Amino acid sequence: MPEPSASQTLIIRGGRVIDATGERAADVMIADGRIIEVGERLAVPEGGADCELDAGGCIVAPGLVDLHVHLREPGDEEAETIETGARAAALGGFTAVVAMPNTTPPLDDAAVVESVFARGATSVCDVVSSGCITKGRDGRELAPMGELHRLGVRIFTDDGVCVAESGVMRRALEYARSLPGAVLAQHAEDPSLAAGGHMHEGAWSSRLGIPGRPGAAESTIIARDIVLAELTGAPVHFLHVSTASSVDLVRDAKARGIAVTAEVAPHHFTLTDACCAGFDPLFKVHPPLRTDADIAAIKRGLADGTIDAIATDHAPHTPEAKERTFEEAPPGMLGLETALALTLSELVEPGVVSLIEALALLSWRPAAIAGLGARGHGGPIAAGAPANLCVIDPGLAWEVDAGRLASRSRNTAFAGRKLTGRVRHTVLRGEPVVIDGEARR
Ligand code: DOR
Repeated sequence: MPEPSASQTLIIRGGRVIDATGERAADVMIADGRIIEVGERLAVPEGGADCELDAGGCIVAPGLVDLHVHLREPGDEEAETIETGARAAALGGFTAVVAMPNTTPPLDDAAVVESVFARGATSVCDVVSSGCITKGRDGRELAPMGELHRLGVRIFTDDGVCVAESGVMRRALEYARSLPGAVLAQHAEDPSLAAGGHMHEGAWSSRLGIPGRPGAAESTIIARDIVLAELTGAPVHFLHVSTASSVDLVRDAKARGIAVTAEVAPHHFTLTDACCAGFDPLFKVHPPLRTDADIAAIKRGLADGTIDAIATDHAPHTPEAKERTFEEAPPGMLGLETALALTLSELVEPGVVSLIEALALLSWRPAAIAGLGARGHGGPIAAGAPANLCVIDPGLAWEVDAGRLASRSRNTAFAGRKLTGRVRHTVLRGEPVVIDGEARR
């Protein structure tokens, strides 16, 4: 675990502290990177505090944890770097993110993975590396998973593409069983069903004349991997679940005691395939935006615990890349700076999930899936714990301005959207890395 880094004494004053154990009004005192006391109206310690952060009217929560971000380093630094992505993450309330492996070169090799961990350790957010399931993410030969696991990798994935061969997935699961805490995370899209498609296959794709990617491309792989998880006893995590039948399959598998978990991305519970009507590549994403019925099913899955986590699939692309035609542009959209507000505005405000449930989906459940509790993420907020926290102003109304995002890219699908709820402060290992909505470095 990276050692707490900040030596300063910090008091977070007057907030509502919410973690997996419940909710209470309390101040939080931090010293040398750790929480030293949680209680009402804490006295300033002898010698004074270096910094007091006002949390009046705010929620003090464990830092958010994102299982799914593309930080483009190494290889595509013009779209994002670990530094700029970490800053966007900190502004979004995240204290830990898992970097996806579809970089150039991919994260299938110890030296590359080590360099991501090294850069992540000095960032304003704890960036941990995922590792590929197969060498070169080409779905054939297993990557050196044991070696990557020794470096700290817990999430193995070929994300961006699916591990399509059943035999390869089975071997990877059997191998993962011997690696404590390892989880295989599947990008569930059968390439032979999704081939040539650029948006959801349905009424809108027919109307627009854009070739589609059927929902079945996702659910067939999820059904298969549930069978393989049962066969091998190894856990499978499903990335960016987007269809009603996928949610049903995961619910049924969990009821049967199979070790599966699932995440959804905010764009999959807020936007539909109708957004593609203007042929704007900002709305092109894999898996694609689906239908109102899929959104309704995802919300039911979030409400009943079928879905374990909200993960952004933050996928920066340069303006040049996203200015191509819909069919030529790469898939993906930004997510780190809008995820919390979309969750509060679209799920908590209408009563789909409670506030504590939303924080579970954004913090302690994903932390548990990725083994990030061992690195001090996901709470609880208690004396002795590493001080990885975010302070959220739940009532702050704001409008997404693409030009003001900290990401190096601009491809948000939410520009101009009015949202409620924003991160006020983020504290990483005792260091206030965001104060009053501004990144400190
Ligand atoms: O839309 C997506 N973009 N889906 C993925 O799986 C990959 C990602 C990217 O890397 O841009």
